[in-house]
Amino acid sequence: LTRRSVLRLGVASVGNAMLTPIPAVAGMATPYGAAVHLHPFRNDPNLKRHLVEHTDVVVPMNALKWASLRYEKRRFDFSGADEIIEFAEKNKKTIHGHALLWYHANPAWLDAVRSPVELENLLADHIEKVVGRYAGRIKSWDVVNEVVAHDPVSQGLWRGGVWYDVLGPRHVEIAFRLAAQADPKTLLFINDYDLEDDSLRTLKRQQAILSIVRNLQDKNIPIYGVGLQAHLYAERQIGIRNLQKFLKSLKAMGLVVSITELDVIDWKLPRNIMERDRLVAAKAEEFLDTVHEVVKPQMITSWGMNDAYSWIQEVFPRDDGAMPRPLPFDVNWKAKPLFETIRRFSS
Ligand code: XIL
Repeated sequence: LTRRSVLRLGVASVGNAMLTPIPAVAGMATPYGAAVHLHPFRNDPNLKRHLVEHTDVVVPMNALKWASLRYEKRRFDFSGADEIIEFAEKNKKTIHGHALLWYHANPAWLDAVRSPVELENLLADHIEKVVGRYAGRIKSWDVVNEVVAHDPVSQGLWRGGVWYDVLGPRHVEIAFRLAAQADPKTLLFINDYDLEDDSLRTLKRQQAILSIVRNLQDKNIPIYGVGLQAHLYAERQIGIRNLQKFLKSLKAMGLVVSITELDVIDWKLPRNIMERDRLVAAKAEEFLDTVHEVVKPQMITSWGMNDAYSWIQEVFPRDDGAMPRPLPFDVNWKAKPLFETIRRFSS
């Protein structure tokens, strides 16, 4: 029996109505994490219960972004981040930080900065204070998020936005250096999306990540791993050959891989819920299986736990208006086939 066929058998039994617990495949245990949105965290007691019961890793979904921490220029507001992080610590969860630098979710005052010296000073102060505050507590950080252009085929390698526009490509080096200084033990990741299909655009995105990593390594700047966001499109094939080649290159460079934002975009799937849930799980399985044939990820984190609080509702709505079902639990906290799939790959 190959690993692949073991997993297929697993999915076949998930397809049959009730969720029968399927034992994890031996030797494949990987921590399971969930990103936590502050609003339901405060208001839905079931979210806390499910975090306690089912996760190993907690990721504040928005609370560590500039827009949350730095709404005002002269004042840091750690209240939301502290709330989630203290809960995670109390419940002995590992914490992954997201994210120190992103082109999006910045306060307007930051996006308006035009002086390179001022921007670099702001970044230095931010990383020193934020990484410093949680030093020894946040195990790993997305140091830079989505710094590769959406389409490097037509746009060049880099993502536009305040960091690149004002500081140029060195914004990535600066951020990694600062993060390593602020907490020499925290594990530093570069995180990005659309790294798993077979298109030329995705191939170029993979190559862009490799060249950024190579540049950091050439300069002896610490980088520990690459985060694959894995917002998977149910209607796209996983590009097995390109993805595995990419993962092998990362492995050869000594980097680890994390699955950081797993969910399945179901906007093109049939409306029928059983059918949809089966196809969502099958897509995640296809992806996780492809990854696990090359590397055991450092963690598998879904971008939320419950469909009710997913960002997919706003960004990838369905034409028929039906509620998207991208996450491991449905709106009533019923575990879906996707949860069983994730569990088979995690502890
Ligand atoms: C999303 C959050 O889920 C939303 O709540 C928020 O309004 C916008 O950001 N890639 C990322 C995440 O790296 O930070 C994004 O999270 C989803 C896409």
